[in-house]
Amino acid sequence: MTKLNEFTQSLRDRLPLSVVVGRFVVIKKKGREYSGLCPFHQEKGASFTVNDEKGFYHCFGCGAHGDLFNFIMEKMNLPFMEAVEYLADQVNLTVPQFENAQANAQTKEINQSFYQTMELACQWFEGQLRKPSAEFVRQYLKNRAMLGITAKNFRVGYAPESGLKEFLTSYSCDESQLIQLGLIGQSERNSRTYDRFRGRIMFPILDVKGRVIAFGGRIIDQGEPKYLNSPDTPLFHKGRQLYALNHALPAARNGQSFVVVEGYMDVISLHQNGIETAVAPLGTAMTVDQLQLLWHTCATPILCFDGDVAGIKAAERAAYKALEVIKPGYSLSFCFLGSGEDPDSYIKQQGTIAFQQLLRQAKPLNDVIWDHFFSKQDLSTPEKKAKVRKGILELTNQIHDPDIQHFYRQDFNGRLQAFLQTQRDKSFKGYVPTVNLVTKKLTETKKNADGQKILLATLINHPTLVSQLSEQLMDLTFTDNSFHNIRQKLLDFCGEEPHISPVVLRERLQEAGFALILDQLLCRDTYHKARFAHVTSDLEMAYQGWIEIWKAMQEDQNLRQEATQTAAELSSNLNEHVWQKLKLLKKNLVVQKPN
Ligand code: UTP
Ligand code: MN
Repeated sequence: MTKLNEFTQSLRDRLPLSVVVGRFVVIKKKGREYSGLCPFHQEKGASFTVNDEKGFYHCFGCGAHGDLFNFIMEKMNLPFMEAVEYLADQVNLTVPQFENAQANAQTKEINQSFYQTMELACQWFEGQLRKPSAEFVRQYLKNRAMLGITAKNFRVGYAPESGLKEFLTSYSCDESQLIQLGLIGQSERNSRTYDRFRGRIMFPILDVKGRVIAFGGRIIDQGEPKYLNSPDTPLFHKGRQLYALNHALPAARNGQSFVVVEGYMDVISLHQNGIETAVAPLGTAMTVDQLQLLWHTCATPILCFDGDVAGIKAAERAAYKALEVIKPGYSLSFCFLGSGEDPDSYIKQQGTIAFQQLLRQAKPLNDVIWDHFFSKQDLSTPEKKAKVRKGILELTNQIHDPDIQHFYRQDFNGRLQAFLQTQRDKSFKGYVPTVNLVTKKLTETKKNADGQKILLATLINHPTLVSQLSEQLMDLTFTDNSFHNIRQKLLDFCGEEPHISPVVLRERLQEAGFALILDQLLCRDTYHKARFAHVTSDLEMAYQGWIEIWKAMQEDQNLRQEATQTAAELSSNLNEHVWQKLKLLKKNLVVQKPN
């Protein structure tokens, strides 16, 4: 142990972390740990925990994590040695003779050897993957379509059951360092040490300078946990680093948006397929730090989450967190995959062009927030409406930037108004007397045209629904000839190939000369009126939405028929009336005939 280490240890012994933290925030003891509101981000629930035994604090909300010294460095914005002085002062100790410069040099030296050790470990894992005995691992990667060149590029390796500890200690790395780096673990019972990563495919995590700072290890095939990651170490802070950022930076600097995905394999698969800006947070939700890191190079990173419940939850959490920090010109947008899909599976099945298409359709942050917090609200009474308005106010209060806050409020209140208006329209519908049909017909015609578009767009984006809905589809009367024609093609193509993918279908329709119509159908206007029509909405939603519009249009058609009848009646009455009038006039004419 160095002298500095001895001194910092004596500070740790005298100053329990909970006492120091307790001077900044209120924390309450719960079992072995303390918890309270996180001092590093604004929150309502208590996500912040302090563990005196381990000497670490951790926030499950923002990922803040560290020890006594990290806490003071972060909280007081001090460099390490000044944090040491500050704490020494509190227990009336003076920092001993070693000078700051010397101490800094010491830390630097320590870091230097830490990096070297990590590099050695990485090379060892890479070497293990090349061994004949690792054929089954290479086979696994091959089955997952990872190319040799990609594996090499990302320095993928293999950790066998044991051997790393022996290898590194033979290089005179001491065990305590290996423990600090999270490469080996120590049994609590008999303090024996063992390799942390065993029987796993190893993904090294590199910083932007290309230095190995941590690892993620995937079990081969089945087992728990599926991924094991390095703990936070002097080199690695989970919440502040992103997997593959070093690979993604060049393309991002060229103007391509970052694509943030959930997993290691997703990142690698996207890179291999030409999406060179893919990055991933490391086994946690994306943090504010990570977002700000991305903003250095890209104004609007695209978050692309798995299409499962966890993925949607993660997206919503990220959206909510981002509100606090968005600033003029800087935001994020969101892509949602179908259920059961992840970026890796999607790009393998649908190809790069389809994935890029998906990225182009990414939803902006305000849409995601609106959809999640407000679109499903009950607005049936004045009280409920007021509650939503209040909710909008509270939620937008999260936004620190005053301008953005203003525009978000405007946006959300506008949506609320628009929604209330459509509700009024709907509830009027039943009462409109048939006589008024002339003006009604005008608005209905427009609505009807929108309906036709939405129905077609939904099916083009969800071709697997066509077979279920073919009868209803055939029954529809289209006002536009080209809509009629595209419906026929849709039925043809999906009849031949019921599992045709949206991308292939669109290509076929384009080839068949419908490119312009497709642009008319698959556009913002359509998705704005019917989110479910979008290629990213799930099948069930698309189906429900389709049926709802279809029913409304059926009603519409009935009303329209009635209108035509009334008009016909009216005109025949009118004719009779005119005729009577004419007759009368004739009579009069006869009467008034001059002699
Ligand atoms: P997923 O379970 O979605 O795995 O976890 P994946 O990335 O699709 O991996 P493959 O395709 O099955 O190989 C997404 C990410 O969450 C973290 C990892 O970073 C993983 O890549 N994770 C997952 C963990 O940290 N630990 C786990 O046990 C599971
Ligand atoms: Mn996967």
